[in-house]
Amino acid sequence: MSEVGIDGVEIRTGKLKLDLAETFAPEKGEDPEKYTKGLGLHASSFPDAYEDIVTMGANAAHRLLERKDLALDDIGRIDVATESAFDRSKPVSTYVAGCLEQVNDGDLHHANKGERKFACVSGTQAVDDAFNWIRAGRNRGRAALVIATDTALYARDDPGEATQGAGAVAMLIDENPDVVAFGEPQGYGSADETDFLKPNQQFPSVDGKRSMQVYLARMREALEDFEEAGGDTHPENFALVPFHTPFPGMVRKAAGLGYRHCIRGTEIEDELAAEIGRQPRPEAYDDEDEYFEAIKEYTDKLTDTERYQEWYERTVAPTLSISREVGNWYTGSVHVARVAGLLEAYETGRDLTGQQLLVGSYGSGAQAEMHAEYIQPGWESEIEQLDITEQLDDRKSLTFAEYESIHDVHNHEETTDVEPLTAPDSEFVFDGWGRMGERKYTFVE
Ligand code: COA
Repeated sequence: MSEVGIDGVEIRTGKLKLDLAETFAPEKGEDPEKYTKGLGLHASSFPDAYEDIVTMGANAAHRLLERKDLALDDIGRIDVATESAFDRSKPVSTYVAGCLEQVNDGDLHHANKGERKFACVSGTQAVDDAFNWIRAGRNRGRAALVIATDTALYARDDPGEATQGAGAVAMLIDENPDVVAFGEPQGYGSADETDFLKPNQQFPSVDGKRSMQVYLARMREALEDFEEAGGDTHPENFALVPFHTPFPGMVRKAAGLGYRHCIRGTEIEDELAAEIGRQPRPEAYDDEDEYFEAIKEYTDKLTDTERYQEWYERTVAPTLSISREVGNWYTGSVHVARVAGLLEAYETGRDLTGQQLLVGSYGSGAQAEMHAEYIQPGWESEIEQLDITEQLDDRKSLTFAEYESIHDVHNHEETTDVEPLTAPDSEFVFDGWGRMGERKYTFVE
């Protein structure tokens, strides 16, 4: 059976940027280091007045098709994962297809289109659907286009406001992929949780602290389930560990706990025993609280060791480099982490062909998923062609007053008439409303 995986990827950021330390912190009366050190975030990306989930998704997909020299007839499926949809019936993928049909020959009438919802994990679920469709032999030689796109905005003054972001990731899922091939074993951790939801509202209701606990609990379950499914979790067997990144500080916490779990009973635990002792085992404690206290103490010592820090800097830190500059992209976030890790590896000349990634996705509500991926020989030439660094550098910095007005543009409850802050250039733009309340798009040369 041939390998199935990600054959190409493109990232599209919103064109505006809010600097958290310089612009946001003073207005909030907060120490800038709460954001840069505590949350690990430097800036958020925002869409300009003519950008939204469709334009960002379609622009990413358009560049991907052009770069891979693909015609519309080569695409058999388009799935959009989003938490920011503006229609309860007509999927965002139909709008994206309409955009692509405006500028490409042929059409996408043959393509199965849909929309996936499960908070931030739905991007990974859509990728999984594409994998299964191809593995089932129903793709007739065609590839699947998966787009994770969000305007991850919170209500003003919500604690989540500091973690906002907006952007899209378009991925081509195909046989004999150039970037990564998906491994077979898969782990899940899923439970009915109330940590983050959007009950028919655009801005989420969030219990931020609870969502952090749920993230860790479900990720742990997914890791254990992945092990049960035969997945290898030895930390030295992974070149990179991209995790869902609502903000880098969340991944920093998850990495320490995950590493401790994965070294239990391995030679790494043995080798560190002289320095920090062995991991506490639950059977040695009568009282659960005492056990938790002991395990927390061990984890603190573990994350201070040179061995852990070297591992973290090599496998986790590189995956956070884009997220730090753009904030949370919800469904796209774990896919941005994968690209960021590969990009840094490419730029520092690491040879990763044949090596593994351990990918951990999470969505509130809540579900985590864990699987491994195998880096393919074509990864360097794919990653080399990305223009995300230029896009990030070209963003326009917002003043706080501009931020307030652009936030209103993307608030469905506000009617605003804000002038764009940038000029579109060879891209799809939002172009007003149609007679049935649909959103309209055009390609601007
Ligand atoms: N210097 C360095 N670190 C600082 C600091 C300073 N001056 N001030 C605060 N910090 C640290 C805090 O200690 C904390 O780190 P810790 O968790 O390791 O202790 C971190 O910065 C955040 O500060 P906190 O006071 O907890 O922030 P908050 O309560 O305003 O908001 C969230 C944090 C995550 C709850 C909030 O951003 C949120 O609701 N986000 C949306 C939901 C989300 O992303 N959930 C994640 C799972 S999906």
